[in-house]
Amino acid sequence: MGDDFPTSVPAPFTLCVRDEVGSTNDEARGLAERGAEDGTVVLARRQTTGRGRRGAGWFADAADGLAFSVVLRPHESKALWPRLALAAGLAVAEAVGTRLPLVGIKWPNDVWLGGRKVAGVLVEAGGDFAVVGIGLNVNVAAFPAELAGIATSIRIELGARVDRGDVLTDLLWRFDLRRRQIDGDFNELLDGVRERCVLTGHEVTMATAGGPRQGRIEGLGPGGELLLRTAAGVARIIQADEVRLVGE
Ligand code: BTN
Repeated sequence: MGDDFPTSVPAPFTLCVRDEVGSTNDEARGLAERGAEDGTVVLARRQTTGRGRRGAGWFADAADGLAFSVVLRPHESKALWPRLALAAGLAVAEAVGTRLPLVGIKWPNDVWLGGRKVAGVLVEAGGDFAVVGIGLNVNVAAFPAELAGIATSIRIELGARVDRGDVLTDLLWRFDLRRRQIDGDFNELLDGVRERCVLTGHEVTMATAGGPRQGRIEGLGPGGELLLRTAAGVARIIQADEVRLVGE
């Protein structure tokens, strides 16, 4: 495969390529603050200081991964914007799922293959816009030692390279559909996430604002929150730091 760096995106998105950025989320935020339109996709050939959730970094292999951020100007109420993270995670899982079986979502939006992470999503809100950042390990052949046990790529799982342009097109097309479901059709979005949720039925530990919690995941509630069964009943978890499967 020659240079498979994407050169186009499907409508209604527009592509904005950067050779090198610190974080595509920062670049997209800057463009949004200067009036960039809904659907502007900032795609970097090289991202030097990519960010993950909870202040973590994001490893991006310039030649073989995808690191990009989408500027959105949602017309839905801001209270619903956190659902964009579910929409993005599901769109990634669906795009990867056309190439590989058993693609899971580790709530809220890590995409999992064989118990390892293949993609992550970082949603950040501005005044009247949101930035949805996605990092996807497409053709990465190997990870640094500290990530090898927890990260994987489509190439590693499939045993073959795939075209990054095709993956991006597919993913954005699905994201366009799913992002429109954060309001009226939210149940359809939620059903997609539920089908792929790798935590359901498992014993987990997690850190929440109220302290550490442990219990069994019963599934997702009507707002996309995690339902945690503990001795005291079912708790609705809206936000949590690292959720770990017990025995993971
Ligand atoms: C996570 O899993 O913690 C989220 C990772 C998000 C990484 C992507 S790469 C493109 C975009 N730019 C960033 O700085 N972060 C996101």
